[in-house]
Amino acid sequence: MVKNRVIGVVSGKGGVGKTTFVANVGLSLVEINNDVTVIDADISTSNLGMHLNLYQFPLGLQNVLDGDLDIFNATYMHPTGLKVIPTPLYIQNPRKSYSPNALKNLLENEAGIFIIDSPPGLNRNVDLVLKASNEVIVITTPDIASVTDAMKTVKLARDNGIKNINIAVNRVSGKYELTREEIESACDAEVIGEIPEDKAMKACLMYGTPIVLAKPYSKSSIAFRTIAAKIMGKEYQPPRFLFIKRLFG
Ligand SMILES: Nc1ncnc2c1ncn2[C@@H]1O[C@H](COP(=O)(O)OP(=O)(O)OP(=O)(O)O)[C@@H](O)[C@H]1O
Ligand SMILES: [Mg+2]
Repeated sequence: MVKNRVIGVVSGKGGVGKTTFVANVGLSLVEINNDVTVIDADISTSNLGMHLNLYQFPLGLQNVLDGDLDIFNATYMHPTGLKVIPTPLYIQNPRKSYSPNALKNLLENEAGIFIIDSPPGLNRNVDLVLKASNEVIVITTPDIASVTDAMKTVKLARDNGIKNINIAVNRVSGKYELTREEIESACDAEVIGEIPEDKAMKACLMYGTPIVLAKPYSKSSIAFRTIAAKIMGKEYQPPRFLFIKRLFG
């Protein structure tokens, strides 16, 4: 049997940081010597490629799902060694819908760690991600609207038979927010990590350089690396003299 882990990164509410999370956690997992492929399954509004400065690809996931291309030829290599299965920025067949098991069938015989960037919401394309995943990380921001949608997403993942479900709380600033304990209790799932609000994220997207590469000692980068270590069942050891490195790095 092929050994793989397929981690779906999903959210109820849109714009909460799924793609940012997939790019940064994917890179952090590569740093600790893992074979990682990130997949852009946000077929109609894809942008994982933008986060990673990968624009030059004519073909991607959709062509694999269409049966016109194999996974190997749809996989691009980021300079760090992170593998990326992107979705082209233009829409090819916007109304085409796939069998819910289409992505699962593709990944079943592939080895390694796969992290799937999902579209937001609870619609058919999310089904494609949930059916393919054996683990799920639900991204939420610490506000009541996003957490309410996260609760529904956790339930949907459970209804799909997924047992390993965690929450990652993004854009934490500590003001007028639900606490970690409140979010865990509302969603009935454990929080795997909290990523702080970080003004530098905007520039990272602009330049196609995720924060773990652009500002490796920032609090948000350390949060992404801590989560990557947890995913591997390890405890993250922060670099020595972090505060001083942060000042200069
Ligand atoms: N921790 C953070 N601090 C500040 N800005 C952030 C943070 N995380 C993400 N952002 C910003 O929020 C915006 C949305 O992020 P992203 O595209 O990752 O969300 P998404 O959940 O993938 O959105 P969609 O649902 O549309 O796919 C981006 O501009 C990103 O730079
Ligand atoms: Mg996204």
